[in-house]
Amino acid sequence: MRVLVTGAAGFLGSHLCDRLLAQGHRVIGMDSFLTGNAANVAHLKGHPSFQFALHDVTNFIELQGPLDGVLHFASPASPVDYLEFPIQTLKVGSLGTHKALGLSKAKGARFLLASTSEVYGDPLVHPQPESYWGNVNPVGPRGVYDEAKRFAEAMTMAYHRYHQLDTRIVRIFNTYGPRMRPNDGRVVSNFIVQALKSAPLTMYGDGSQTRSFCFVDDLIDGIVRLFESSES
Ligand SMILES: NC(=O)c1ccc[n+]([C@@H]2O[C@H](COP(=O)([O-])OP(=O)(O)OC[C@H]3O[C@@H](n4cnc5c(N)ncnc54)[C@H](O)[C@@H]3O)[C@@H](O)[C@H]2O)c1
Repeated sequence: MRVLVTGAAGFLGSHLCDRLLAQGHRVIGMDSFLTGNAANVAHLKGHPSFQFALHDVTNFIELQGPLDGVLHFASPASPVDYLEFPIQTLKVGSLGTHKALGLSKAKGARFLLASTSEVYGDPLVHPQPESYWGNVNPVGPRGVYDEAKRFAEAMTMAYHRYHQLDTRIVRIFNTYGPRMRPNDGRVVSNFIVQALKSAPLTMYGDGSQTRSFCFVDDLIDGIVRLFESSES
């Protein structure tokens, strides 16, 4: 397949490009470098099946040639980033998702959205089944991320229902692994960086909160399997 990965220079997007290429797909990686890093895809330079496109996906996406899939991973993901870039986060979840869906529709390409466990907000149910709709504060600071992703899911389902687009949504939980930035701001990198400095580990709240962790290779494995499967 020939596929587009948005957010390709990010933590997850770059691993996704690696895996798709390893499985024989042709990959166009697109990124604006808002929170990503060129070093994450530097090893792919010159790969015969990889092309990189510097582009902000909140603007119209133009691609020549046939396309079989769009995997939409562009978005700030760490709280440090989405609090620093609140408007860009809302824009990439809304306008960016719309542009990526529009491209999928024009090309007849399968669409996969990287959503998040944050669509549940501060959940009142643990663990969260898909039937639970969440507990989100739209006017709190985290609303920029939570609501952008909820809008992105709703937009994806509208294209699925109205245009019969082949779509998949993955609600990703806290993922860790190589290429995570030391200042990512989430618990795994915080603890590792503090441990390496022999500094005390910072525990938020009373420490009774829970997280669902996933190693990046396992996440990418699940995402590629869902993308390639006939389940939609
Ligand atoms: N890492 C996790 O644990 C986690 C958890 C839940 C959901 N997700 C989702 O997975 C996706 C990737 O997350 P990540 O951890 O790799 O984050 P990341 O910040 O490392 O990567 C996101 C990438 O998107 C790019 N980007 C942002 N806005 C853009 C725009 N307008 N146009 C083009 N590129 C743009 C950034 O430059 C960056 O390279 C995000 O959609 C995020 O919401 C990640």
